[in-house]
Amino acid sequence: MSIKENLKKLEEKIKEAEDLKSEIQHQKGKLTARERIALLLDEGSFVEFDPFVESRFSQFGMDKKKLAGDGVIVGFGKIDSRQVYIYSQDFTKIGGSLGEMHAKKIVNVIDLALKTGTPVIGIIDSGGARIQEGVASLDGYGSIFQKMIKASGVIPQIAVIVGPSAGGASYSPGLADFVFMVDKIGQMYITGPEVIKSVTGEETSFEALGGAETHSRTSGCSHFKFNSEENCFLEVRRLFSYLPQNNLEDPPTKKGLFSDFFEKENLELLNIIPEEEKKGYDIQQVINEVFDKNSFLEIHKDFAQNVVVGLALLQGQVLGVVAPQPKVLAGVLDIDSSDKIARFVRFCDAFNISLLNLVDVPGYLPGTDQEQGGIIRHGAKVLYAFSEASVPKVSLILRKAFGGAYIALCSKHLGYDKVIAWPSAQLAVMGAEQAVKIIYRKEITAAKDSKKTEAEKAEEFKKTLSCFEAAKLGQVDTIINPKDTRKVLVEIFSSLKNKREAKAPRKHGNIPL
Ligand code: HXC
Repeated sequence: MSIKENLKKLEEKIKEAEDLKSEIQHQKGKLTARERIALLLDEGSFVEFDPFVESRFSQFGMDKKKLAGDGVIVGFGKIDSRQVYIYSQDFTKIGGSLGEMHAKKIVNVIDLALKTGTPVIGIIDSGGARIQEGVASLDGYGSIFQKMIKASGVIPQIAVIVGPSAGGASYSPGLADFVFMVDKIGQMYITGPEVIKSVTGEETSFEALGGAETHSRTSGCSHFKFNSEENCFLEVRRLFSYLPQNNLEDPPTKKGLFSDFFEKENLELLNIIPEEEKKGYDIQQVINEVFDKNSFLEIHKDFAQNVVVGLALLQGQVLGVVAPQPKVLAGVLDIDSSDKIARFVRFCDAFNISLLNLVDVPGYLPGTDQEQGGIIRHGAKVLYAFSEASVPKVSLILRKAFGGAYIALCSKHLGYDKVIAWPSAQLAVMGAEQAVKIIYRKEITAAKDSKKTEAEKAEEFKKTLSCFEAAKLGQVDTIINPKDTRKVLVEIFSSLKNKREAKAPRKHGNIPL
């Protein structure tokens, strides 16, 4: 072929690879694979790889369907001038389904990201394993999963669900650190409603089965839910700004951005916790007053709302925040909130993000549901994750720290570097009302006025729970005036900056799963 003919062929192939049938996507209220990349990355920063790769299969009509690019666009680009690797599936090409070559493109991207210590973002819009390519497509998923697992804890991995994420396509989000979903557009499931009906007879819809609401509120498989792709990609960019490039780097500091927030006394913090011991309040009020203004990025907002987790800035330093939420179930730890905390803590530890607990917790949730559902196994994850974490770990007890939840969230013996308390804090095996019923049972039963005796004993017992008693024993390092919280925390985290912890050699621990 002449140079001219070769150039013409190149032009044709580029056109074939770029043809995204945008009208099909737009009719479904979806963006195209390239529009999504453009929204996510800094303008003009995207560099594409492998645009001419195509399937090697011809059976079952594949000879007429295969196209340059094989249904996925891969490459690298920048977010706020920081490099990121990316893949974006194109549903308009064989349903974004994953065949052998499609998988190879994704594996190549993760591999390069791993070698260069760069985060990966996968944009998923796929019918799952490409049926025509049979086991080769299943093996494709196998190779992606293996690469993702090797990259886990080395580089941050984010999945954005903006279409079906069916079958095998649901496990790459399943393995990612953070999953973003767009409401009524993203749907993630192992088997669709038709298969479910034929196997079990159950009738369901795509939305009920795997919509953004289901996964962000009920299953916890999604960390973020948005009402539009535009908002979703903006928030991916925001999360990215809190993360280091890899496990050998510290997260970026954002000094200067919040310079209007002075290290002055904050009297607001004296008014948030109600005088009545059992009255709920919103922990977000405390979060808002402690961290740099508007810096809190909540993760898993709709899931297990009895605990709040997220990333926030303290004088520009990124911190991982874990805070039981007193206004939901009094902030108890249960199965779902334990999973939520443990996964978050392990991410922070892997990526050098220091941890701060804001604690007001009455304990682990009692009940048959919880015991039969395995609260022991799930609750143990919280103990394991915090104990294992070698990043600076600080706990601030605001009001209650009772029982197993005290151990998990505040015990210096579990490895917290500093435990501090507000003066009203109480530390105990359990609340006074429950405790006196056990240790004074005989006296209360024998008393003329049982109720009065019980109340007196409870009052007496409460005095022993004060954090001033705990401070005498060194269980609490210091007790601070709430108005000085921010200043004290800044000093503590600064003192822990160079923390190093040696670990005994082992293949890996065995976290209860
Ligand atoms: C090959 C596929 C495909 C797939 C979709 N297509 N999924 N081709 N393999 N897995 C093709 C369709 O044949 C169609 O081609 C085009 O993509 C668009 O699909 P439609 O069905 O027209 O689109 P829509 O109505 O929007 O429905 C989307 C969908 C549906 C709900 C995702 O396509 C679907 O149910 N697909 C199968 C989902 C699934 O069960 N995946 C699991 C695969 S098994 P034409 O040429 O007609 O335009 C798997 C194994 C791993 O992944 C399991 C681990 C647990």
